[in-house]
Amino acid sequence: MTTPRFYMYQNELVLEALNEKDRYVCFIFRFGKWLHYENVIDPVVTGTHLTETEATAWLAQIWSRDFRQELSTAEAKRKLFCWKNKPRHVLRSQQFDREFLEKYLFCESNRIQVLMAQRGGRESLRQTCRHRILLTHFYEPSTRTRLSFEFAALHLGMHVLTTENAAEFSSAIKGESAEDTIRILSGYHPDAIVVRHKQDGIIDRMARFSSVPLINGGEGTVQHPTQALLDVYTIFSEKKQIDGLTVVFGGDLKYGRTVRSLAYLLSKFDGVKLVFVSHPAFKMGEDLKDHLRERKVEFEETESVNNALRQADVVYWTRVQKERMSEDLAKESEKIISRFTIGREELRNMKQDAILMHPLPRLREIRSDADLDPRSAYFRQAENGLYVRMALLQWVTEPEID
Ligand code: CP
Repeated sequence: MTTPRFYMYQNELVLEALNEKDRYVCFIFRFGKWLHYENVIDPVVTGTHLTETEATAWLAQIWSRDFRQELSTAEAKRKLFCWKNKPRHVLRSQQFDREFLEKYLFCESNRIQVLMAQRGGRESLRQTCRHRILLTHFYEPSTRTRLSFEFAALHLGMHVLTTENAAEFSSAIKGESAEDTIRILSGYHPDAIVVRHKQDGIIDRMARFSSVPLINGGEGTVQHPTQALLDVYTIFSEKKQIDGLTVVFGGDLKYGRTVRSLAYLLSKFDGVKLVFVSHPAFKMGEDLKDHLRERKVEFEETESVNNALRQADVVYWTRVQKERMSEDLAKESEKIISRFTIGREELRNMKQDAILMHPLPRLREIRSDADLDPRSAYFRQAENGLYVRMALLQWVTEPEID
């Protein structure tokens, strides 16, 4: 007799164990009934329907205790015999706590990274989410986020459908609201939907109408939670810790969403210091700074690139988001950028064990002569996006037993 395993597999509730004769037995909850399988190769062919009473009696037998007592309350019964389809949306970086990051995301992303380096590992990963469906629906251009999600889904055995230019090639162009669109799309029963949109706050509104997990793939100037997750994983895998690090953020801190999302996540760690380096036109917003004050996270603001680089354990540089500002400021930014550029020369000011990150795409703010320096981690960071998004897709497509 073994302890029974109780888990979700491909959207179905499964209970399996060895019975008193050491024979494999398994229950699958399907079509509102428990199917009972015993020592069979192909349970779908030979399974028989059990009533709830029969299933309960059988479970009592293999668990060698009176399982019926546990089912005496409505709550216990609901836990065993049904699960709510409560979608696990990914809307903002603040929703994740340290426990999720350290106990699930970092371990699982690392496991996936190791498996992806081996052919057998890649084959086993392809069974993980077989036959599930991912829809990517992007109203704004993307290379990394959309394609790494799509590769992540394919490596997990999922099917992928995509609208890569939803602003033009969906009924948004005819004036359909994003809320109506998501109602329609989630009604087609994908297992998850990733959306990118230029409007602040719209993904929250869409999530209210989505019956399947909705993942924010970048939203206006406010949030890019999956980027923040891959960033924090990159920091952890490169530095082996996050507590106590000094993280220097530079570039366009006003219109960029990646710095904000990552700063929210870093504020959950102990003794982290944040340094914001920017021209006054691109300063970090007061709302984020208020959040840091509330959480008693030390931070400072400066215009001196080299002073900031000297104290950094992690440097996180960003491009100017010309697409989100006035034409005049976009033109002016050309002059500003030259003061906020990092290359081989500036890297001399960084500690030997510091790392240089960038969410990419980069323009001129990191010169290509920095690429060969082992501290330049931005291409490793982009690759981590695949592993982190694979871990995330597994998590969101597992229905929550509530
Ligand atoms: N870092 C990032 O979000 O890149 P894409 O715009 O290419 O998705």
